[in-house]
Amino acid sequence: MHVLSVSSLKGGVGKTTVTLGLASAAFARGVRVLVVDLDPQADATTGLAVDTAGRANVAEVLASPKEKTVRGAIAPSGWTRAHTGVVDVMIGSPLTTNFDGPHPTARDIWKLEEALATVEADYDLVLVDTAPSLNALTRTAWVASDRVAIVTEPALFSVAAADRALRAIEEIRRGLSPRLQPLGIVVNRWREQSAEQQFRLREMTEMFGPLVLAPQLPERTALQQAQGAAKPVHLWPGDTAVETARRFDALLERVLASGRAAAVPAESAPAAAGPVKEAAGPAGEAAGREESGPA
Ligand SMILES: Nc1ncnc2c1ncn2[C@@H]1O[C@H](COP(=O)(O)OP(=O)(O)O)[C@@H](O)[C@H]1O
Ligand SMILES: [Mg+2]
Repeated sequence: MHVLSVSSLKGGVGKTTVTLGLASAAFARGVRVLVVDLDPQADATTGLAVDTAGRANVAEVLASPKEKTVRGAIAPSGWTRAHTGVVDVMIGSPLTTNFDGPHPTARDIWKLEEALATVEADYDLVLVDTAPSLNALTRTAWVASDRVAIVTEPALFSVAAADRALRAIEEIRRGLSPRLQPLGIVVNRWREQSAEQQFRLREMTEMFGPLVLAPQLPERTALQQAQGAAKPVHLWPGDTAVETARRFDALLERVLASGRAAAVPAESAPAAAGPVKEAAGPAGEAAGREESGPA
C-alpha cells in the first residue's frame, strides 16, 4: 500500500481536484484506492458521492484509530455504483479542526498511520486530501505517507510557498518518518497563454528542477463540471475531459512508480520487509493488471 498526501499551504489551489483526478485515474486503471478526507471542508467526500448516513468519520478515527472505528468511517464512493472497482473514502468532517492545532502532540501525530495499518491489505493506493496549512492535520497525514504532492498555481508567491512546504517535509522526514519524501510540485490551473504564468513556471523550474512535475494541469471547466456532478473525470464526456484525464493518468504513473522504487530496497533485504514495505507490491503489480472500472 502506497500512501500519497496531496497538500498545499492555502485553500483553493486544487488539492481536492488533484486528489479526485488521481482517484479517477486509479479507478480507471483498476488500482484499489482509499481517499482519506482530512480537510475539514470535506469536499473530497462530496466529490466522491459518498453516502455518509449512519457512518463514523475521520475525526473519530483520529480520536481512536482502532480497526472497528476505521472500518466504520470508510464508505464506498458512489463512483463504483455503475462500474466495478474499489474507490473507498474515509469520510471527512468539520470536527477534524479539533485536531488541527499548530503543535500536534507526539501521540496524536501517529494516529492516521496507526489507522491505515489496520486496512493495509485492502488497498493499493491511499490518497490523503489534507487541510490547507502545515498544521497538525497535515503533519499527521505526512507521517502516514510515503510521498507528498505539493499543489500550487503558478503565481507570485508560489516559489516561496513550495519552498516552505518542501522544508517542512524534510523536517518531518528527519525528525519522525524517514520514509517520507516529496513526490514533487503539481502545477494546477495552468493557463499556457499567460505570460505571467509562463514566467512563474520558469521561476519554479529554475528553483526546483525535476521536482516540478510534468504534465501541468490546465484550467479546464470540464474538471469543475465533473466535480460538481460528483463524477470521475475519466467518465466525463468531451475532448477536454479526455485530455485532462490523460494528464492525471501520467501523474498517477509517477505516483505508482515512486511506490515501486520505494519497494526495491525492501525486496532485496527480506529480513527488513515489514508490513509497510511488503504492501508496496500491489500498487506496482496493478500496472500489469487487466483494466477494470470505467476505462
Ligand atoms: N485545473 C482546474 N481547472 C478548472 N477549475 C479548477 C482546476 N483546479 C481547481 N479548480 C476549481 O477551483 C476550485 C478550488 O479547487 P479545489 O480543488 O477545491 O481546491 P482546494 O482543495 O485546494 O481548496 C474548485 O471549484 C475547482 O473546481
Ligand atoms: Mg479541498
